[in-house]
Amino acid sequence: MRLNYMIGNWKMNQGLKDIKDFFGVLKSEKFKANCQTWIAPQALHLPYCLEMANNSPFKIGSQNICTELAGAFTGEISAKAIKELGCTFSIIGHSERRAIYKEDYQTLKQKVEQALSQNLVAVFCIGETLEEREAGKTIDIVKEQLLESLKGINNLSPKNLVIAYEPVWAIGTGKTATPEQAEEVHKEIRGILRSDLSLNGDEFSILYGGSVKPGNVAELMSQPNIDGGLVGGASLKPNDFRALSAVFDS
Ligand code: PGA
Repeated sequence: MRLNYMIGNWKMNQGLKDIKDFFGVLKSEKFKANCQTWIAPQALHLPYCLEMANNSPFKIGSQNICTELAGAFTGEISAKAIKELGCTFSIIGHSERRAIYKEDYQTLKQKVEQALSQNLVAVFCIGETLEEREAGKTIDIVKEQLLESLKGINNLSPKNLVIAYEPVWAIGTGKTATPEQAEEVHKEIRGILRSDLSLNGDEFSILYGGSVKPGNVAELMSQPNIDGGLVGGASLKPNDFRALSAVFDS
């Protein structure tokens, strides 16, 4: 049985009051146990979010970690430090990190290894650009992203790795992949996990991300190979985020 997830990636948004309001609204909600509800705030806000989420089903993690655990790396965020605070996971390889901060395959591999070394779940993001999709390269690209950063890591399991398929052209654009487009790629990803990484592809949760919102979540999540969402914009408002996770309530 694969776990279902709804993970909010707050990016560089939300102030302290927004955070207080968010958890204030949602802490009194009865969340069913069949959806993992996770939030990744700005690193600076991790301790406050952990405090706010105390005694709730929410788990908190970072949007990024460093390739190293400690040392002379000014401005970086250590997997060891966030684990010590009480975080559960880190997002790794988000397309904004790949595109804006030029994180390459080897860097991302080291980050996954550091997450695993600290018993953090790595939420590993992959996805093609519009140009790559139009050139018919979607599957080649996601395969390359998976193999170049995950091959050779020998303790990967559904407990420490969650894959997020996020087509770059759908992130923050309001353009969502159709449920069929997303399902097709998710199915291929399972096959790649199986045949190229020798993992049991059926056991890994694969999330879809890219303009997921209350109006399209049910159709996306009803696809057999989509196990949840990684959500930016619609995760900022508590009622919208609640509506997203509610898709797994029944
Ligand atoms: P979006 O962002 O939901 O605002 O498209 C998704 C993401 O970047 O993870």
